[in-house]
Amino acid sequence: MFPEPSLSLLETTIEPHLKMPTMTDLDHAELTYRDQKYSLPVIEGSEGELGIDIGNLRRDSGLITMDPGFVNTGSCKSAITFVNGEKGILRYRGYAIEDLAQHSSFLEVAWLLLFGELPSTGELEAFDQDVTLHSMLHEDFQRLFGAFPKDAHPMPTLASALGALSTFYDEPNTDLEIRQGIVRLIAKMPTIAACSYKHSIGQPAIYPRNDLDYTQNFLHMMFSTPCEEYEVDPVVARVLDLLLILHADHEQNCSTSTVRLVGSSQAHLFASIASGVFALWGPLHGGANQKVIEMLEEIARGGGSAREFLERAKKKDDTTRLMGFGHRVYKSYDPRAKILKGACQDVLSRMGGSSQLLDIAMELEEITLEDDYFISRRLYPNVDFYSGVIYKALGIPTPMFTVMFALGRLPGWIAQWLEMRNSPEFRIGRPRQVYVGEPLRQIEKPV
Ligand code: ACO
Repeated sequence: MFPEPSLSLLETTIEPHLKMPTMTDLDHAELTYRDQKYSLPVIEGSEGELGIDIGNLRRDSGLITMDPGFVNTGSCKSAITFVNGEKGILRYRGYAIEDLAQHSSFLEVAWLLLFGELPSTGELEAFDQDVTLHSMLHEDFQRLFGAFPKDAHPMPTLASALGALSTFYDEPNTDLEIRQGIVRLIAKMPTIAACSYKHSIGQPAIYPRNDLDYTQNFLHMMFSTPCEEYEVDPVVARVLDLLLILHADHEQNCSTSTVRLVGSSQAHLFASIASGVFALWGPLHGGANQKVIEMLEEIARGGGSAREFLERAKKKDDTTRLMGFGHRVYKSYDPRAKILKGACQDVLSRMGGSSQLLDIAMELEEITLEDDYFISRRLYPNVDFYSGVIYKALGIPTPMFTVMFALGRLPGWIAQWLEMRNSPEFRIGRPRQVYVGEPLRQIEKPV
């Protein structure tokens, strides 16, 4: 363990606003099983969402509920992000994603997610400074990257490095230590992400610069070399900042639930976040952004027939899926995809890049919106559908797409971890099962 300078943010500011919503007992639902009636409290969230509380059901009736894939199961009460998938609404701490995308920076949004309110100018400056001052990695830590194969995908490198970070810092327990841990994570994540990439292309890691802001610094560490300083285009940095904002949180998705579940054993904050990165890597979750661009490139290589690909995605005996389409929660247009579709056109016209992939993406979208298969299943473009086209236009290498998602999702994961740890309902996460295996049997060894 090594000492770090004290953090001005931690000395001078804030109590976290970890607000829990006021829940009122509205009503009771009644369950009848074998002539017995069980009364179950119904709770109401601040946007009118209703949930049946089955916490005591097994104790009272011997029954558990079954819900593979947690399609209809609430795992917590949360005051961080509100999603209405029917209406295509996404809000962080009550603010519409469209407003935040237009008026805020990523670090501002990170603060909002973590502490419940938008920061004052002073708070934001202190936070920005703390993050800047903690962006370097310990020299011993840098050596870790040399242990990974050269062609390693940057996602497992990132996740492994985040896990390894917990060997450099004791488990944060007190409020102060947790806040130090938060600043370190947010500060070091872009450095680790850029190192993962530099290692994968055989270039030396580039040190962060204190005169650049969060997103500019990341671009500098990605694209500068010891021979040449990369000149950061402020428009590119702003678009990247927008992408990070749009990815910053999305309530109880696969990776966030993983972070909460791992964290519920009181595991180290950094280890909980590392597990979230691994969960995000899967192609059905954050890994879809890389798969989308690969799909669009495959269509382009094959002469650009979007319809042909679409027909394959509809076939039951074909495992092809239209990547970047469909969502567990959104049954209408993902509001993040809507913002990104507009940004795509702006970026491409400014960067002067080829619009072939965007053209194919838009054609795909157009024909799906008129196709019965997609209409009846309510499958619309999700956040990953257009993000890859933008990353590509900005010069981000394809294997880094999901790393970009992780960079954006970090404050959301931490906010959810914090909320869980501070919740009056905090308990270790432990789902139940219905056992369907062999009943008790005697050992009879095969001869
Ligand atoms: N292409 C073709 N068919 C699809 C697609 C798709 N992208 N998505 C869903 N379907 C079909 C399914 O085959 C299923 O059809 P069926 O009822 O005839 O069996 C029906 O729509 C429902 O799909 P499920 O897989 O049950 O939906 P679920 O909510 O479990 O999965 C998921 C959601 C994983 C996002 C899915 O839509 C998918 O695989 N999409 C492609 C991958 C992707 O883009 N992932 C990113 C999601 S956003 C994010 O994580 C940031």
